[in-house]
Amino acid sequence: MDFFSNFIASAEVMSLKPFTELLQAVFAVLATLNLKVGGYPEQHVLQNNTSYDIIIVGAGSSGCVLANRLSEISKWTVLLLEAGEDPSIESTIPGLFPFVDYSYEDWNYRTVKNNYSCQAHTEKNIHLTRGKMVGGCSGSNYMYYARGNRHDYDSWEGMGNKGWGYKSVLPYFIKSERLEDDTILKSPSGSFHGTEGYLGVTKPDWGDRVDDYFTAFKQNERKVILDQNGPEQMGYALPTFTVADNVRQSTGYAFLRPIKNRKNLFLSRKSFVRKVLFNDAKEAEAVEVMQNGKILIIKARQEIIISAGAINSPQLLMLSGIGPKEHLTEMAIPVISESPNVGKNLQDHATVPLIITENISKVTVVQNVETFTNLNEMPAPCLMGFAAVNKTQTIPDYQVKFFVFPVGTIIPVWICNFVFGLADSICVSMAKAAQKKGVILALVVLLYPKSTGKVVLKSKNPEEPPLIYTGYYSQDEDLENHAKYIEDFLTVLDTEHMRKTHAQPLNLNVKQCKHHKFNTRKYWKCFALNVVTTLWHPVATCAMGPEGVGVIDDKLRVHGVKKLRVIDASSMPKIVGGNTNAPTIMIADKGADIIKDDHGLI
Ligand SMILES: Cc1cc2nc3c(=O)[nH]c(=O)nc-3n(C[C@H](O)[C@H](O)[C@H](O)COP(=O)(O)OP(=O)(O)OC[C@H]3O[C@@H](n4cnc5c(N)ncnc54)[C@H](O)[C@@H]3O)c2cc1C
Ligand SMILES: *[C@@H]1O[C@H](CO)[C@@H](O)[C@H](O)[C@H]1NC(C)=O
Ligand SMILES: *[C@@H]1O[C@H](CO)[C@@H](O)[C@H](O)[C@H]1NC(C)=O
Ligand SMILES: *[C@@H]1O[C@H](CO)[C@@H](O)[C@H](O)[C@H]1NC(C)=O
Ligand SMILES: *[C@@H]1O[C@H](CO)[C@@H](O)[C@H](O)[C@H]1NC(C)=O
Ligand SMILES: *[C@@H]1O[C@H](CO)[C@@H](O)[C@H](O)[C@H]1NC(C)=O
Repeated sequence: MDFFSNFIASAEVMSLKPFTELLQAVFAVLATLNLKVGGYPEQHVLQNNTSYDIIIVGAGSSGCVLANRLSEISKWTVLLLEAGEDPSIESTIPGLFPFVDYSYEDWNYRTVKNNYSCQAHTEKNIHLTRGKMVGGCSGSNYMYYARGNRHDYDSWEGMGNKGWGYKSVLPYFIKSERLEDDTILKSPSGSFHGTEGYLGVTKPDWGDRVDDYFTAFKQNERKVILDQNGPEQMGYALPTFTVADNVRQSTGYAFLRPIKNRKNLFLSRKSFVRKVLFNDAKEAEAVEVMQNGKILIIKARQEIIISAGAINSPQLLMLSGIGPKEHLTEMAIPVISESPNVGKNLQDHATVPLIITENISKVTVVQNVETFTNLNEMPAPCLMGFAAVNKTQTIPDYQVKFFVFPVGTIIPVWICNFVFGLADSICVSMAKAAQKKGVILALVVLLYPKSTGKVVLKSKNPEEPPLIYTGYYSQDEDLENHAKYIEDFLTVLDTEHMRKTHAQPLNLNVKQCKHHKFNTRKYWKCFALNVVTTLWHPVATCAMGPEGVGVIDDKLRVHGVKKLRVIDASSMPKIVGGNTNAPTIMIADKGADIIKDDHGLI
């Protein structure tokens, strides 16, 4: 809160009037909505030493999909264990997404400080939001529906994972989707989409508020396309979102509410899984769960599936004795199966926020209030781009999220300070500029990092958060490339349209970069290194791959033990060139079919 008190103290920095009006508008809308968020399966209270056919750990993006698909088998009882509770109203209303991050429904992880990256952050590390609720991160994410590049999946297959090529996974993207957009459905892209799935997907229409920017990208020799999830990904487009009927389509909302009355599905909230237990044949037999302050043993007749996400899944494997031998020994955890790559290979999308100012002389307060009263969508028009320095390449180098704000906006400042946790001096520079000018917030994302990080245990205590090393820019090549991509993106300012509004990158006065000339390669390298944040896409910490390389095989079974799978974002062998929610849902949907097939049920 320091930032806002400084802000208030220096009233000349910016009038607080718009901010107050804006908050008033938010609460006025909340009061009238009276949105009901109930309707989830009822709470299942666990009894010690009882059994289910299938146990799923974690009701996130993947866990809710698995629970739905596996409970279609009526002879199976399916237990879904979730540490959190049902999502809050802030989570359910799309326009309130920036406020979910620091709430009680977050694991509130912070990455390990490294004296290298993130030095322009107040805490010199990253707040790695992870949803702790029914729906997991799909309840706190930014709702972009993106599938990545077809080459991503072909490369997964090329790494030895049979059945994961683009042709094999596309039907699963289609299966879960309920796209509500006639323009896309009637276009050649239509055959790439589903209309009958549980997951509602829509595309907002920001009308002429975005047209000029598309013109600028065309002048910059970039393609402008209708749909980045169709035959081609490259170019700029209006993104699609997991929002439908004005409600966030978390997987809890989309996949569990409609089946809440299935008699064989049991959802147990506030159930924290501490470890997986094995018999002498190394078959996963049971989980140890903490519920209502009691430690209970719950057994699985068929299988246990870990879907606790890219941070908690490797943590749980290691707590259960599956991981690098030396590390487990150091933590005094008996080794069940040595698996050197558990928690390694962490990949994430390092993201650099840029501010571009424009001379636009338009209404201020009214527009600002308007953006916040329409809580059914993103609070600002947003364009999304997938681009490469080489304009004919079909695999992107970087992704851009391009948000357009009116004069007097407070939102980028909120994001700067509360979401990204950047130093006050940076956010104040932003606030000052926003007072007089239109502001574009452009997030430039390094899609295919060479650097990897890792997740390791801090101790054998399951309640103790693991240590998360981002590894950002640990390979110099990544930093050089990221700076190059920023420069490549900024060439859009040198177009007729953007020159008209005097669009310019704003110098945010990053203390660490004072000695570099602004807007040079050296400057952008320094800026990226110090300002870098995350798009919250950690993946690949229990990666799929052949024995000795992967933690799980291509049927998502944990190498070295039986009756145990990991199915979530950690299963990806390699990060995708796009956001990770839809790919994670795909993995769960395909995983459910693999399980049914293994049990002779397809
Ligand atoms: C702020 C933010 C913005 C994002 N924006 C986007 C976006 O716009 N588009 C996009 O595609 N992706 C986005 N993502 C990423 C995407 O949401 C995730 O990749 C995806 O949700 C991961 O799904 P998962 O099933 O692997 O894990 P999660 O969804 O995290 O699910 C794991 C679940 O397991 C539970 N759990 C964990 N440990 C235990 C335990 N020991 N016992 C019991 N339960 C446990 C957790 O509480 C959680 O509910 C964003 C993520 C965040 C955090
Ligand atoms: C647990 O339940 C099984 C049968 O389901 C029973 O055989 C066993 O004795 C029970 N164990 C304990 C410790 O109660
Ligand atoms: C970071 O730098 C400070 C001061 O230079 C030093 O005291 C500290 O040990 C360093 N920490 C790490 C993790 O390198
Ligand atoms: C649950 O059962 C296990 C044996 O199956 C026993 O060791 C444990 O103490 C029991 N826990 C509670 C809270 O009763
Ligand atoms: C636009 O802003 C620049 C400074 O950034 C200023 O010099 C110029 O006069 C402005 N132009 C218009 C048309 O407002
Ligand atoms: C650009 O990409 C195309 C298509 O991948 C390739 O054929 C060409 O050689 C590339 N050009 C350069 C300069 O790398």
